Amino acid sequence: RKRVWSISTGSEALNGILGGGIQSMSITEVFGEFRCGKTQMSHTLCVAAQLPRDMGGAEGKVAFIDTEGTFRPDRIKAIAERYGLDPDQTMENIIVSRAYNSEQQMDYITKLATIFAEDGQYRLLIVDSIMALFRVDYSGRGELSERQQKLNIMLARLNHISEEFNVAVFVTNQVQADPGAALMFASNDRKPVGGHVMAHASATRLLLRKGRGEERVAKLNDSPDMPEAECSYIITPGGIAD
Ligand code: GTP
Ligand code: MG
Repeated sequence: RKRVWSISTGSEALNGILGGGIQSMSITEVFGEFRCGKTQMSHTLCVAAQLPRDMGGAEGKVAFIDTEGTFRPDRIKAIAERYGLDPDQTMENIIVSRAYNSEQQMDYITKLATIFAEDGQYRLLIVDSIMALFRVDYSGRGELSERQQKLNIMLARLNHISEEFNVAVFVTNQVQADPGAALMFASNDRKPVGGHVMAHASATRLLLRKGRGEERVAKLNDSPDMPEAECSYIITPGGIAD
């Protein structure tokens, strides 16, 4: 039987509330307003996944699907240096695919399943962000049910990949920007987009929000085995930290 393991987020406090870090064999979703650190956390995980097990890593390769053009090799290199890894080698272990529409995003996920089957060293698949292209491609009135149907297929495939290859799947998500919703929900209680389909697919859901200055706050909203909890973390040149 396959065993669930986890990858360090870079913050001990955050690993603590997650029960170790980002788990394999399921989808972890982080959602929150702009600049709360979703992309920086994605970059940190790209490096952490390559670390030895006793440093919170999975000694593996990483696949990164970039839907917003925000992947930065320079950030990877700076984070690699924090952990004493060779920056160029670290970059070589990350396969980055830039998707420009939701169909391409789906194609990359399918191709990655083939790559994971051929090269058993992959331990982490990141999609940053999962919903951005869907929101553009299906923005019209009456397109919501088609969007949700396509999203459901994509998320089922991601869940299948996480189990079949025992990898951690990490997706970032946006919060509803509807001004009415912003008034209705306190800033620490924003709703992620993607509705029930998204909620059902993610085993672990983590809400991120801004604190004072460099400080950020993470709240565990949903977890298969950990209680609701909150902690703070910071964004540094070396990635997410305490
Ligand atoms: P959206 O994608 O716009 O929704 O935001 P996000 O949640 O992905 O935010 P992101 O991870 O891009 O975080 C941006 C924050 O990280 C900003 O506040 C930057 O100041 C900070 N940041 C980015 N790079 C660095 C860095 O090299 N050093 C430090 N200290 N902070 C950084
Ligand atoms: Mg981002």
